[in-house]
Amino acid sequence: MKVLIQEAQILQAVQRIASEIRNYHGQPIVLVGILKGAFVFLADLARYLEERKVDFTIDFLAISSYGDRTETSGEVKILKDLDEDITGKQVIIVEDIIDTGLSLAYIISVLDARKPASIAVAVLLDKPERRLVEVPVAYRGFKIPDEFVVGYGLDLAGKYRGLRDVRIYERE
Ligand code: IMP
Ligand code: MG
Repeated sequence: MKVLIQEAQILQAVQRIASEIRNYHGQPIVLVGILKGAFVFLADLARYLEERKVDFTIDFLAISSYGDRTETSGEVKILKDLDEDITGKQVIIVEDIIDTGLSLAYIISVLDARKPASIAVAVLLDKPERRLVEVPVAYRGFKIPDEFVVGYGLDLAGKYRGLRDVRIYERE
């Protein structure tokens, strides 16, 4: 598999994102990691934020994925909900990749109904070519071409999440 983004480049981007995140009006930040793919990005982001003395807590949300990634009418549902109440809090959704945007659009609508002070999205990877719904992305690591990628939390059928870099998966 061909390396698309090297470990050092990823860490640099995560550090940059951490430097862009701050507490507004003293509101506590809740980082909402989307399971499972975001766990590596979230782990690095949280450690850079701690270094910068940003005040945050971490929570997780799991949603069902579309069985077939090309299906656009797919039902999404919450498999694991947040533990924390996000009312009045500054929510930052932390996601590995945005593709069609359907998952994030759904997540935003669910969380928005709980009246947080604000919601922002942080994604490591963005495939803008495949977007079907508009999603505001406040913090982005990289725009990438329309290729299937694995590593740094991203999987193919549950595998490759532990790779330190991001690679293009090519079927042979
Ligand atoms: P969206 O709803 O189409 O934006 O889908 C986003 C979700 O699809 C991500 O959270 C990933 O789980 C998955 N996904 C999209 N593209 C890739 C990829 O290239 N590699 C691994 N997972 C992907
Ligand atoms: Mg995902």
